[in-house]
Amino acid sequence: MDAGRELEQILQTAQETIRTQTKSEQEVERQRVAWLGRKSRLTELSRQAASLAGEQKISFWRQFNRVKSAIEGELAGRRQALLAQPAGDAIDVTLPGRALPQGRLHPITQTMERILSLFVPMGFDILEGPEVEFEYYNFDALNIPRDHPSRESFDTFFVDLPSPQPGKGRLLLRSHTSPVQVRVMEQRRPPLRIVVPGRVFRPDPLDPSHSFTFHQVEGLMVDGRTSFADLKGVLDHFSKALFGPHTKTRFRPHYFPFTEPSAEVDIACAACHGKGCATCGRKGWLEIMGCGMVHPNVLKAGKYDPRKVQGFAFGMGVERVAMLTHGIHDIRLFFENDLRFLEQF
Ligand code: PHE
Repeated sequence: MDAGRELEQILQTAQETIRTQTKSEQEVERQRVAWLGRKSRLTELSRQAASLAGEQKISFWRQFNRVKSAIEGELAGRRQALLAQPAGDAIDVTLPGRALPQGRLHPITQTMERILSLFVPMGFDILEGPEVEFEYYNFDALNIPRDHPSRESFDTFFVDLPSPQPGKGRLLLRSHTSPVQVRVMEQRRPPLRIVVPGRVFRPDPLDPSHSFTFHQVEGLMVDGRTSFADLKGVLDHFSKALFGPHTKTRFRPHYFPFTEPSAEVDIACAACHGKGCATCGRKGWLEIMGCGMVHPNVLKAGKYDPRKVQGFAFGMGVERVAMLTHGIHDIRLFFENDLRFLEQF
């Protein structure tokens, strides 16, 4: 093949390869070496041209230079194009935005806030107390006698640290929110209306309805004349606001050392309307809290005069309320933190 035809062919193939095979600057450089480098066919042809003379020599070099600058032009063009192109990880501002995952409050927190929000309009303040508590506030001050079975260590988590105030007994993880009653009475003068959310601890084995830790909301109202009728009115209003306006409540006599008289509050089972079904264990009623008139000994422990003031207290389990309002049958779901469960609230 004569040199002129070969030069044309080189130009064609070079242009095509450079156009299609260079995705990076390194590849452009590789193509430059292949087509224009010392070992390229073009360089070899230029060496052979030394034997040419006259007209032939002139026309060879003219064509050679044209082909060479065309290839150089092609390479330069590719380099430019690659520079203008964004790198693979650059931001494409034309893409639509991606929604960020949104957090939410735990169903127990939501239920707690809902419960509290129903008492605030009735004039109750929200207060908290410590989770690590003295034996005194958890038991003695609440008129729970020394020999009461719930004092036994199997019913309470004791904390293995020396008590900072030995006069107030050993340290423990509170088994209910009621110790806050006396703590508040020590701090504030009557009249008093408070609700106390908080976590409590009991060494119960885990099962669908028991956990070694759960949450309560405590309530306490004390003044010169608050009666059992006020207790019934407040809790009946609360139950209707929480479970629906047609909810029936029932006050069933009960015993707590720190209230007298005492009662447990049941609501008519929403699933069977009091007839008895699997949800309510065929009883027709579901227990939602304990309550009663504050025992005179408890008022005395809080330095209140039981001849001048009286009041009521109640305590409810938040998990229990959440299970009833959402139809959940296993308390353990609240503590496993499985997002597939939590994301439903
Ligand atoms: N503290 C009791 C419990 O944990 C509930 C309660 C509180 C009962 C206040 C009466 C008054 O079971």
